[in-house]
Amino acid sequence: MTDIRTLGVIGAGQMGIGIAQVSAQAGYDVILSDIDLPRAEKGKANIAKLLARAVDKEKMTQSEADAVLARITPVGELAPLADAQFVIEAATEREEVKRAIFGNVGKLLGKDAILATNTSSIPITRLAQAAPDAERFIGVHFFNPVPVMVLVEIIRGLATTPEVVEAVEAYATRIGKTAVHAFDAPGFVVNRILLPMLNEAVFVLGEGVGSVIDIDQGCKLGLNHPMGPLTLLDFVGLDTALEILNVFLTTTGDPKYRPAPLLVKYVEAGWYGRKTGRGFYDYSGPEPVPTR
Ligand code: 3HC
Repeated sequence: MTDIRTLGVIGAGQMGIGIAQVSAQAGYDVILSDIDLPRAEKGKANIAKLLARAVDKEKMTQSEADAVLARITPVGELAPLADAQFVIEAATEREEVKRAIFGNVGKLLGKDAILATNTSSIPITRLAQAAPDAERFIGVHFFNPVPVMVLVEIIRGLATTPEVVEAVEAYATRIGKTAVHAFDAPGFVVNRILLPMLNEAVFVLGEGVGSVIDIDQGCKLGLNHPMGPLTLLDFVGLDTALEILNVFLTTTGDPKYRPAPLLVKYVEAGWYGRKTGRGFYDYSGPEPVPTR
């Protein structure tokens, strides 16, 4: 089985930094790459903030936090990933972006290295065609916030070998996650169920059936969900949710995945949620304020 010591993470956004953090906490050396060094360094700085909070809460000592940070190397190019036995791509949820990355990183990786994608929805077998070796390509899907959410989905493409599945399962266990396996269908298991529900919440809002508060309080108190669906959409990113729904729609041709018109409008307006300061809530003040 591939002996993973150094992990490469491509993309220093909210998912990539979470993956880098939990992996460094488990003792892996992590190379955190983005399209330029300042972005990768900003990702590492965000990890430092979360670790500082853990130190404040006495969940970690300062020297443990320092050791975790010392294991993370931010880089602004792909070349250093040649040293990694396992690379996880966590870039934008757009197929052409991911394909270009696999083509470039594929030229650098050793023959035993494993390449994984944290795609939320795009079929693994299809993405594997852009990877150097479909047998050593796999889906490993994390949930946001990565340090808190215990699940990872492991998705085998048609050609992925059992040895690669075993190595990724061992990695998931070592970082303290529980893995479930999914067949290679759009959205796998969890997002296939989650996204239609989130989309429906936006239809309910757009049709005026309930306000933002009615919908979010309703699901929190009536279903015991930790966050209402519109809060969760702001958290995941409306742009990401729309990309996922469009993958479902184009891959299956099933109109049940048609994105809610209001979701499309918000994305067109640049209201992506927390990351842009406005989505279904306005985040410019001390507390989020519902916008409808
Ligand atoms: N990063 C790291 N840690 C975080 C965090 C973040 N962004 N947000 C919260 N935490 C930690 C807090 O530090 C706290 O840790 P502690 O218990 O050690 O002190 C713990 O989480 C609980 O936080 P809070 O008390 O502040 O807040 P809540 O109790 O409200 O929990 C939540 C916050 C864990 C985010 C909870 O609201 C929740 O579980 N929400 C649902 C999240 C969810 O559904 N995620 C899946 C999204 S779908 C997805 O990711 C798939 C993708 O493909 C779209």
